[in-house]
Amino acid sequence: MKKILIGTHNRGKFKEISHLISRKYRKISPLTLKIPSPEETGKTFQQNAKLKVNFFSKFVNYPVISDDSGLCIKSLHNKPGIYSARLAKQRGGFNKGMKYILKKMRNKKNRSAVFVCCLSYKKPKKKPITVIGKINGKISNQIIGTKGFGYDPIFLPKNSNITFGQMSKSKKMLIDHRFIAFKKLKKKIKIL
Ligand code: IMP
Repeated sequence: MKKILIGTHNRGKFKEISHLISRKYRKISPLTLKIPSPEETGKTFQQNAKLKVNFFSKFVNYPVISDDSGLCIKSLHNKPGIYSARLAKQRGGFNKGMKYILKKMRNKKNRSAVFVCCLSYKKPKKKPITVIGKINGKISNQIIGTKGFGYDPIFLPKNSNITFGQMSKSKKMLIDHRFIAFKKLKKKIKIL
């Protein structure tokens, strides 16, 4: 069976990316291979996604797919953006991170936000192919829902009155930023 390394230590992302890729592939996690995470020194989602795919590719001789993603909030100057994971870590977890964001948003009229996902795919000895997917939405007034992962409970995708945190995994997975990026990637590489 063909193998693919899903270059992320985030279990939520691992599950979503795994479900998007054909059953023909055996999906391998860096956790299983005890591969550490690289330092995210990039200044953009694209730079970080490429940096990750290049890093993980050094450990295996089969294709690797990595993602860099995050939540960009308009009235917070597009923060936390590439620092989404780091914000949660600094605050002591996602619940505290979401509370911090809601506090910052308390007096903001504009609650527009975008979830961004940059996917980078690399075959051995080839250059990475990188695409970006986005979904617009709004930041809710409260933390709502227990499904999903990360910032899902404060993100209301456009045309929806429920947050990602209230949505079933199967529904979220077919509309979110990762899915949009994956569709673009599939057009470019026609496998997976
Ligand atoms: P990084 O790509 O490893 O830097 O982390 C991205 C951060 O954004 C993580 O903290 C994720 O939990 C969060 N994030 C990315 N995609 C999603 C999503 O689909 N739902 C909720 N949080 C997400």
